[in-house]
Amino acid sequence: MHQRPLRGTFRPPGDKSLSHRVALFSLLAEGTCEVHSYADCQDCASSLEAVRRLGGTAEPSGAAWRLRGAGGRLRSGVDIDCGNSGTTMRLLQGILAGQDGTWRLDGDDSLRRRPMERVAGPLRQMGARIETCDGHAPVTVHGARLRGVEVALPVASAQVKSAILLAGLQASGVTRVSEPAASRDHSERLLRAWGAAVESVGEGVSIRPGRLALPASFTVPGDASGAAFFICGAVIIPGSAVTASEVLLNPSRIGWLEVLRGFGATVTSTVEREIPEPMGRIHAATAGGLKALEVPAAVAPNIIDEIPILAVVATQARGTTRFREVGELRVKECDRLAAIETELRRFGAAVRAEGDDLVIDGPTPLRAPGETCESYGDHRIAMALRIAAQLCDGPVAIRDEGCAAVSYPRFAETLAALTAGDGR
Ligand code: S3P
Repeated sequence: MHQRPLRGTFRPPGDKSLSHRVALFSLLAEGTCEVHSYADCQDCASSLEAVRRLGGTAEPSGAAWRLRGAGGRLRSGVDIDCGNSGTTMRLLQGILAGQDGTWRLDGDDSLRRRPMERVAGPLRQMGARIETCDGHAPVTVHGARLRGVEVALPVASAQVKSAILLAGLQASGVTRVSEPAASRDHSERLLRAWGAAVESVGEGVSIRPGRLALPASFTVPGDASGAAFFICGAVIIPGSAVTASEVLLNPSRIGWLEVLRGFGATVTSTVEREIPEPMGRIHAATAGGLKALEVPAAVAPNIIDEIPILAVVATQARGTTRFREVGELRVKECDRLAAIETELRRFGAAVRAEGDDLVIDGPTPLRAPGETCESYGDHRIAMALRIAAQLCDGPVAIRDEGCAAVSYPRFAETLAALTAGDGR
């Protein structure tokens, strides 16, 4: 049952970040779009539901979704349940801030604990009227007339940057946003492709007011962050060889491949198509003799969602691995810094948080914890622990493991197929 190699080819579900954007941006766009491979996860269902409640159209069309742009003609006065999805709640604030009406955005207990002033603050500078509850959800947005401003974000965040760009699309004048380090650039690419005047300026990006037009069709590449669990698993579980197909290869999302190479793993990626975003294959096989490494702070935004699984890899590398300045992990779906430390220690790993750094000494053979591990209801913690469990010689129980469905509904099936050697 355990220590079974992963072998075969799999296609991860549609990318979560891109799926959210395609759905939510349609609220401001004209036209109709057939969206193929839209992520079938809970988070992206929250965005589709929000689109419908706001007066947009999202209906099944065979295996695809047909989106009809709402062109900014939104239904006012509705409450939106964003579930567990920070992307839905933050991007919606940028969309609604410039529209006519009032809306209340809420979410589950995890989302209610996440910081919202980082979005509401800059949007208020643009003239938005947004109320948070002590910086948290529920958030009330009253539409207002917006003006373009220049914002320098204190923390790199694609969600905050995207909310500002969406508000900037509806503002008077030019909006500029810069970050201390580059975060994922899907919003810039998509807004530009759909007709917005988006430009890179120095370390940042600018947008002018304008309109969006949906393309007739859009295919969402496979989720790069979802692929990371099995590719990283293949690197550390002896005898493995795994290929992820049709996966998103946007450079701002695959920093984790460089980290794996830094550990000494042989991982290859091949771009097969460039539109709408780079997409192709990733292949990895087990690498012995992994070496620890220091991951600089500037890389952190690029690998923030993959750190839980990279931490599992680090337990198998010789020496001390340090992920510098990854304090943002504290404000994800759970406090991921604490979760990684507590849960990997149960497996016998030498993991500690030093200030905002995550430090791991290796290699340590992982052993099945005697007690049930906690996922904290966090999909990425649940999946990282399940891959760690594959290295153990006994069964491992993980509480609320089904929360993986937040981003990867068929995670368990794909793991079973790869351990059976036939992928899927
Ligand atoms: C996301 C951005 C990141 C990431 C999240 C998805 C996005 O969050 O952790 O899973 O789609 O823009 P931050 O923008 O808060 O860093």
